[in-house]
Amino acid sequence: MLHIDRFLVAELDGEIVGTASWAVLPELDPAKNPSIEIQSVSVREDLQKHGLGRQLVEAALARVAEFKPDQIIVLTFTPLFFEKLGFTPISKDKILYKLYKGCMNCSKYDNPLTCPEVAMAYAPRPRATDGPA
Ligand SMILES: CC(C)(COP(=O)(O)OP(=O)(O)OC[C@H]1O[C@@H](n2cnc3c(N)ncnc32)[C@H](O)[C@@H]1OP(=O)(O)O)[C@@H](O)C(=O)NCCC(=O)NCCS
Repeated sequence: MLHIDRFLVAELDGEIVGTASWAVLPELDPAKNPSIEIQSVSVREDLQKHGLGRQLVEAALARVAEFKPDQIIVLTFTPLFFEKLGFTPISKDKILYKLYKGCMNCSKYDNPLTCPEVAMAYAPRPRATDGPA
């Protein structure tokens, strides 16, 4: 319930069939805007591969744009999906604050730096129609 306002859901016949949420990560440097972590991306198994996951993540990215985030990250076991959406792998030592906050109590893996989850950051490639930076 704590993060209910940060959850997007897809509904079908009154049932929740997909979710995406985000968290604002603590930023100690006052010169930087916060980073955002995309979390809880999930689509019901029988509805996967029809574009729903993309819609949910793109809707979450649109919602968090107002924070002008320093970076948008995800920790994931499905990096190929996030690659399709413009995320690129990053070194986990770039997100130590996240690892410290989120991974320390993980009971699955001993070390967040070597666990198989892949750290990624949103870095969409400029489109051919975009002008020079
Ligand atoms: C990952 C997940 C959310 C993707 O949802 P989805 O609705 O199937 O994804 P989409 O149909 O929107 O796919 C978007 C693109 O990613 C690709 N894609 C989707 N899942 C993929 C996967 N597991 N591996 C590689 N590519 C994948 C699709 O083929 C599609 O590519 P295209 O744009 O070239 O056609 C869904 O498979 C899921 O719920 N998995 C279990 C939970 C999970 O792993 N969540 C991620 C936690 S961080």
